[in-house]
Amino acid sequence: MTKENDVAGYRIAWMPGDGVGNDVMEAARIVLDKIKLDAHYIPADIGWEFWKMEGNPLPDRTIEILKNTDCALFGAITSKPKEEAEKELVPELRGKGLVYSSPIVGLRQLFDLRTNLRPCKAYAGNPLNYRDDIDLTVFRENTEDLYSGVEFFPLPDEVRAAIKKHNKKMGRFDWSPSDKTALSCRIITEKASENIARAAFEYAVKYGKSSVTIVEKPNVIRETSGLMVRTARKVAREYPKIPFWETNIDAMCMWLIKNPQDYSVLVTSNMFGDIISDLAAQLVGGLGFASSGNIGDNYAVFEPTHGSAPKYAGQYKVNPMATLLTIKLMLDWLGEIDKADSLENAIADVIRDGKIRTYDMGGKNTTLEVAEAVAARL
Ligand code: IPM
Ligand code: MG
Repeated sequence: MTKENDVAGYRIAWMPGDGVGNDVMEAARIVLDKIKLDAHYIPADIGWEFWKMEGNPLPDRTIEILKNTDCALFGAITSKPKEEAEKELVPELRGKGLVYSSPIVGLRQLFDLRTNLRPCKAYAGNPLNYRDDIDLTVFRENTEDLYSGVEFFPLPDEVRAAIKKHNKKMGRFDWSPSDKTALSCRIITEKASENIARAAFEYAVKYGKSSVTIVEKPNVIRETSGLMVRTARKVAREYPKIPFWETNIDAMCMWLIKNPQDYSVLVTSNMFGDIISDLAAQLVGGLGFASSGNIGDNYAVFEPTHGSAPKYAGQYKVNPMATLLTIKLMLDWLGEIDKADSLENAIADVIRDGKIRTYDMGGKNTTLEVAEAVAARL
């Protein structure tokens, strides 16, 4: 990673993004300042405003900033379907064929942030816990699968013909006209499957986790899920001390409601990981507690999993815990283990204490008051 200038301290790209992204990033700053992380925070433009004004939610100047930083902290993003996105462009950009695509998905692919790490832990005293003994970590492959962006609508005749040539099952859709048929490709590679499985096992070893479960659907999605499961099995053989389980995604949803305490590390592909990580988050208090790291070999973008919740923007209502737990992940990744641990302890204390709570936890405190309470314990 090339650095613009060799000043001391980390260089962290600062991307509030949309909606409540600003609220939670203000909370983040309170805690980062208190913890005295030696860092420069470099603001970078990202999100819906830049889509509307420039037709690009992830401007090139932002990518340049990211290339010159150690990692990034990101608030939240607003994403809307194609037609709505087009309508919100400034008039001079409309009708030019600009297509909105999620900047966070773009960043994950552009910087090969192949591991999406999503811990979901029940902190004692959280009234929103489904049970108090849940400690799950989702490893979500972050660059492939249905998120590859290889999609067609209308379906070009050549694409249809080429697929049919290699797989006669395509013929079953001959009756549906091209402009009434859409195709999204689920692309899975062995390399990415191996990487995510290895990341999950390495994490299990490092943190003494009790098991790793691959969550797929190889009984139906034979090729892509099949490749992923076979690859995970191969990796599992290198970690004979860690129990390795295989579960189908549908059954996993059921088991996570039935016996979430039995599971520890879950590893899965991008789309299933998206779904299962929301489910797992809800077991430990909801998206207000869901932290995440998009981690590559040389760069990482840290973000709370929640969306931009436009109706709460600027009201300092939302729970900043997801963002504060995200900072913990960032500190871990930077190797600032003591700071990471003391931040997690402070968060756990505030939750256990139960006096300062945002509305989702039944309290009346603001986003910033919760951050102040955590900072006060650092
Ligand atoms: C997430 C979000 C994103 C995703 C959206 C905002 C594109 O749901 O990080 O889980 O689908 O990955
Ligand atoms: Mg999601």
